[in-house]
Amino acid sequence: MDDSYKIRNYQIENYTDLIKLIVQSERLTNEDYVSPRDLRENTIKRKDFHPEECLFLVEKAGNIIGYSNAIPELDIGRIILSCLVHPAHRRKGLGTMLVNSAMNYAISKRAKVVHTNILIDNEVGKKFLNKLGFKFVRSFPILRLNLSEIRLKNKTQNCQIRCLKRGEEEKLTKLQNRSFANTWGYHPNTIEEISNRINFSDYLTNDIIVGYDGNELIGYCWMQIYHNEIGLDLKEKPQARIYMLGVDPQHRRKGIGKILLFEGLRRLKNKDIQIVELNVDSKNEAACRLYRSQGFKVWKTSLWFEKVLD
Ligand SMILES: CC(C)(COP(=O)(O)OP(=O)(O)OC[C@H]1O[C@@H](n2cnc3c(N)ncnc32)[C@H](O)[C@@H]1OP(=O)(O)O)[C@@H](O)C(=O)NCCC(=O)NCCS
Repeated sequence: MDDSYKIRNYQIENYTDLIKLIVQSERLTNEDYVSPRDLRENTIKRKDFHPEECLFLVEKAGNIIGYSNAIPELDIGRIILSCLVHPAHRRKGLGTMLVNSAMNYAISKRAKVVHTNILIDNEVGKKFLNKLGFKFVRSFPILRLNLSEIRLKNKTQNCQIRCLKRGEEEKLTKLQNRSFANTWGYHPNTIEEISNRINFSDYLTNDIIVGYDGNELIGYCWMQIYHNEIGLDLKEKPQARIYMLGVDPQHRRKGIGKILLFEGLRRLKNKDIQIVELNVDSKNEAACRLYRSQGFKVWKTSLWFEKVLD
């Protein structure tokens, strides 16, 4: 059998082997890589993406032993990269080859910049990215809260709160884009993207809490409850995350964000969820303060690196 390394494009039938690669590498190294869930949500299951074009695999003797993924966000000129090589095949130049495939894809799409993130304690990742010409640009603390350790006190509701209903996708899209306009790394979502996330993924309308002032949608808290996946042990791991929390800029500093977050956490606690996590830009002082006030603590920090394409 030919046992040389081959780089090729992903095909749909490689899905299970790709997930196995991630799970097995995590077990062997005890490190946290991209979660299979995020890989599926952000690339494989998204209707507007073609993983056969932007996901690259390295194969040896029929086994998938590495991948790189280049998620296009071309409306803001960027590609988001992730890359993993099985621990038994590292330091042979495979990571570099995989990143180069992703880079060529980025150049063919006329992206201006490639962004990637690693955990702060990933020293090998830092050296690797440094060698490839990436520069540090931003840090995003990953915060966690153990709901079983806190008592949530009732809060006065300062807006009408309920779950999102079908048919409100357009309103939610507009609110999200208003809330995150000019935020680093945010690319304005289309109604189709939001509808796809709600209708064809693990996200449910029931897990999106919305706040209304009369007929006006002024804020939302979008949670994601993790369901167990092949080989993933969720003990000790977060069982849910606050995926998005946004308040219309016209309605800030009125306690709307706090009540929406509180309501989201209350519902998660009622479902016996213990550990909740979220990512926040370290430069977003308002959000950092809000999460700290609810008991969230820094678990780790995710560092973003950038490579500008000529
Ligand atoms: C980071 C990773 C993808 C590198 O893959 P790899 O195939 O081992 O990397 P390469 O062999 O192409 O190494 C390229 C350069 O990175 C640096 N590097 C890689 N591994 C290193 C290590 N263990 N110690 C020090 N430097 C290292 C070196 O500069 C190396 O060049 P050199 O061998 O000429 O010195 C791999 O370690 C991995 O899968 N890590 C977990 C996932 C991750 O951290 N991804 C981050 C990238 S998005």
